[in-house]
Amino acid sequence: MGVYTERILPHLMDRAMRDKELDPIRARVAANLTGEVLEIGFGSGLNTALYPATVSRVLAVEPALLSRRLADRRATAQTAEGERRSRIPVEYIGLDGQRLPLPEASVDQVLSTWTLCSIPDVARALSEIRRVLRPGGSLHFAEHGLSPDPKVARWQTRLTPIQRRVAGGCRLNLPIADLITASGLQLTGLTNFYLHASKTAGYIYEGAATRAAP
Ligand SMILES: C[S@@+](CC[C@H](N)C(=O)[O-])C[C@H]1O[C@@H](n2cnc3c(N)ncnc32)[C@H](O)[C@@H]1O
Repeated sequence: MGVYTERILPHLMDRAMRDKELDPIRARVAANLTGEVLEIGFGSGLNTALYPATVSRVLAVEPALLSRRLADRRATAQTAEGERRSRIPVEYIGLDGQRLPLPEASVDQVLSTWTLCSIPDVARALSEIRRVLRPGGSLHFAEHGLSPDPKVARWQTRLTPIQRRVAGGCRLNLPIADLITASGLQLTGLTNFYLHASKTAGYIYEGAATRAAP
């Protein structure tokens, strides 16, 4: 990892991901979380203030050490402001969503917001998510991905090589719903829409998918 990835990108990501347009989406996706939650691509901790009190513990996976430091600072600031939710314990358990150091069927729910696009082998990460979810548990997600509009999709494919270079491997054209379904998780809710800010980077897949009970 170079200087850009280690020292600059986490700050750029933190700023981009603080976009106010994302706040209500984050709030909806986090609203029904309960129990022990695994958050993939924890980033700078922008979801922490949104975990409901029904969450007992958050297990965080995040490769960027600077993002983890930014998240720690945010948690400290929230504690200083007396925010009750920041007291939900967060434990870093790993660096890579493709290899989760957790036993099978060990977490109640998984949260992923704008992360799947950056994971090189996303099918493997989703299969790991399915493995660690307890039967009946669910993945809650808000991701950007492939637009059904062929004109937008063509631009997404054209721009993906440069996006990968400047945005930590992010691909604009992943068929998120198909990938989730292919992992064996069952979609229980899905809403698609464009962000106002951008069509190419802003076709959103928001929803939940469950690991079926045997
Ligand atoms: C666009 S940021 C989103 C951060 C955060 N989820 C949010 O909503 O603000 C993508 C995140 O995915 C993380 N990431 C990249 N590769 C990853 C991997 N293999 N496993 C887990 N997270 C990864 C990045 O470090 C970054 O924090």
